[in-house]
Amino acid sequence: MEDKYITIALGKGRLAKKTMELFEQIGISCSEIRDPKTRKLIFVNEEHKLRFFLSKVPDVPTYVEHGAADIGVVGLDTILEEDRNIFEVLDLGFGKCKMCICGPAEAKELLHNKELIRVATKYPKICKDYFYNTKYQTVEIIKLNGSIELAPIVGLSDVICDIVETGTTLRENGLTVLEEVCDLSARVVVNPVSFRMENDRITALISSLNGCLN
Ligand code: PRP
Repeated sequence: MEDKYITIALGKGRLAKKTMELFEQIGISCSEIRDPKTRKLIFVNEEHKLRFFLSKVPDVPTYVEHGAADIGVVGLDTILEEDRNIFEVLDLGFGKCKMCICGPAEAKELLHNKELIRVATKYPKICKDYFYNTKYQTVEIIKLNGSIELAPIVGLSDVICDIVETGTTLRENGLTVLEEVCDLSARVVVNPVSFRMENDRITALISSLNGCLN
């Protein structure tokens, strides 16, 4: 048995729950992490010398880039937005959704005509990259922290760049998908130095997770 712990960063929320279910399927459990009442931040599996911690979702790539976590599990949206020096090694296939440009149906024309429009988003980097490098359209980007769908309804922006999963939020607020930016899902990311130093253990872990998906 190895002495050093491999540390795994998970973003608080839906993906963490799904990720722990996957780890349980490969025989790695950590029951404490599933206790909704716990305020603990770090959870240890002594048998496999693994350490899990929960952070805010956008901080996962930061922990992994700096080596405070060897491995992270996070959505592709966060990976693209944070743009960190990390290796993306596995698509877990769950947490599937799309990054889309959405708004009232009338706004489609503003996109076609490449007008100077205001776009509200929690993802300014992804949004900028899409409009400037894919569509060659100049836009004003307005950064928000949540409930992005509000922006076009109250007149803060013309459209939004946001995640669509079931489409319910859009439907219930009279908005629609105008353009699709990219497909998203949960990914496993690895610190480049950890990947070299702990290659056997990390590769074995990734292979087990991958085997469980197929
Ligand atoms: C996300 C996203 C949309 C919603 C899409 O928000 O920003 O608002 O989910 O899901 P749907 O297509 O299934 O309705 P989240 O719940 O993460 O909260 P937020 O608005 O605070 O970002």
